[in-house]
Amino acid sequence: MNILVTGSSGLIGSEAVEHFDRQGHCVLGIDNNMRREFFGPAGDTTWNLERLKQVTRRFVHRQLDIRDRDGLFALFKERRFDLIIHCAAQPSHDKAKEIPLVDFEVNALGTLNLLEATRQHCPEAVFIMMSTNKVYGDAPNEKPLKELATRYDYADPADFEGIDETCRIDRTLHSIFGASKVAADVMAQEYGRYFGLKVGIFRGGCLTGPSHSGVELHGFLSYLVKVAVTGQPYTVYGYKGKQVRDNIHSYDVIRAMEEYAAHPRPGEVYNLGGGRANSVSMLEAIDMIEQITGRNLKWVYNDQNRVGDHICYISDLRKLRSHYPNLSITRSLDVILNQVVAPQMAQLCTRT
Ligand SMILES: NC(=O)c1ccc[n+]([C@@H]2O[C@H](COP(=O)([O-])OP(=O)(O)OC[C@H]3O[C@@H](n4cnc5c(N)ncnc54)[C@H](O)[C@@H]3O)[C@@H](O)[C@H]2O)c1
Repeated sequence: MNILVTGSSGLIGSEAVEHFDRQGHCVLGIDNNMRREFFGPAGDTTWNLERLKQVTRRFVHRQLDIRDRDGLFALFKERRFDLIIHCAAQPSHDKAKEIPLVDFEVNALGTLNLLEATRQHCPEAVFIMMSTNKVYGDAPNEKPLKELATRYDYADPADFEGIDETCRIDRTLHSIFGASKVAADVMAQEYGRYFGLKVGIFRGGCLTGPSHSGVELHGFLSYLVKVAVTGQPYTVYGYKGKQVRDNIHSYDVIRAMEEYAAHPRPGEVYNLGGGRANSVSMLEAIDMIEQITGRNLKWVYNDQNRVGDHICYISDLRKLRSHYPNLSITRSLDVILNQVVAPQMAQLCTRT
């Protein structure tokens, strides 16, 4: 296949590049390293691009901005893609409020540029869009919760599996990021439903893995490990540190995309996270990381939660599993954490 990966130097994009290159497909990646512009030097993804060049066989990179419609259309004219994996984004909830226009241009308009280029030049291609659980805004916080010693959990046994795709996405507080992703998510659905393109939308929980350029504003586990290893302080915002996230390894994200690409269902939306087994609260994550690294994590508590932040979010994976029974979560939270810790400890050793 000819595969286009946007955001190819980022966490999910780079995993897609490696995965499909290993299988012998021709993968073209576009990434303009805008993560550095968003988050400063710690967000720079150049190291990951250089790594990809070393470990892949056919991968080709273009320094293209998804906001550059003419550039994208020229690329789509030049190459006919069979599969488009769209991962380029301004990915941070908190960053978006400083740059609402850029956030919308990248997340919403950038996505529309890609959808339209696909419709005009390769309408038979499969298009996968990485969306987010922030499209639900703070509606998941309306679920009745119970407070346990180290985490919040759903009080109603009917909610045990977590949040499913029927959760409403309007009349809720999203953050500016959540709203730009809603625009992209709904437009992607429309290209599936209205135009009949094979568009699949994945609403991610916490996506993680060793290739994340983790920064305070994005990449929670990766950044938490970074501060544990380097001894910098960490701030926990609100909910007594008992807020829960479900974590999925980037490999399992790509496996879901692969299954979808083999049997696409136009306009379908799926929640994609690690599920209950891979869920962890902030307090529990700190404890696990301290145990794995053997270091004390210095953290302080700020009583003010982040605006619109989820209290307990676990992705209900039942729809995904029923449509794609070959899928399972193959990387446990423990494996994920060990994989995130290892390269950061190695980096520390080479520095000292
Ligand atoms: N990581 C998570 O926890 C998480 C959770 C839910 C959803 N998502 C979504 O998954 C997708 C991938 O996330 P990620 O964690 O890999 O993010 P990432 O920041 O690691 O990767 C995104 C890449 O896109 C590139 N990029 C940004 N703007 C661009 C532009 N205008 N043109 C070209 N490239 C550009 C960045 O340089 C970066 O390398 C995003 O859509 C994100 O919103 C991520």
